[in-house]
Amino acid sequence: MIKSQIIKLDVKNIDDVYEILHEAFNDEAWNMEQLLSSFNNSSNAYYGMVLNGKIVSIISLLITVDDINILDIATKNDYKNKGHATRLIDYVKSIKNEAQTISLEVKESNDIAINFYKKQGFYPVCKRKKYYRTGEDAIIMFYN
Ligand SMILES: CC(C)(COP(=O)(O)OP(=O)(O)OC[C@H]1O[C@@H](n2cnc3c(N)ncnc32)[C@H](O)[C@@H]1OP(=O)(O)O)[C@@H](O)C(=O)NCCC(=O)NCCS
Repeated sequence: MIKSQIIKLDVKNIDDVYEILHEAFNDEAWNMEQLLSSFNNSSNAYYGMVLNGKIVSIISLLITVDDINILDIATKNDYKNKGHATRLIDYVKSIKNEAQTISLEVKESNDIAINFYKKQGFYPVCKRKKYYRTGEDAIIMFYN
């Protein structure tokens, strides 16, 4: 039987998180130093979807009183389209209180992620021009 659960990740999971983010975002993913600093930021939280003991999908959050900002979400290539990221988003919805929105930035060209977020009930509110190092615009999306 497949055993799956969502767990809060900490710095001992940093290698797995690094690997998943690099598989998803290549050179644009944070380096180890940036990732470590993010893990050590008390406003940030990392959660992982664990399947038979293996982390297959992760989400990182910046949590403030009025908003939960999704910093990153990624699923390992071999585990995509099986509902793992959906479960992580559902979990974030379950920890959000009434005063909080959930927000995120996504590359304008990332159709898969934009589709995914729309399916989860997120709506686009505006663009942030040249937000990414590549010069690409970001679409800002919210859920409340
Ligand atoms: C976006 C991402 C996290 C989704 O993870 P996942 O675990 O595969 O997602 P789920 O299986 O829970 O959700 C599947 C939904 O995502 C969307 N989706 C997934 N693959 C898709 C594709 N190839 N084309 C269009 N939509 C797609 C669909 O809405 C799909 O729902 P459906 O199967 O009912 O149509 C994953 O594709 C990923 O890691 N992408 C690279 C990293 C990234 O771009 N992250 C977002 C940065 S803002």
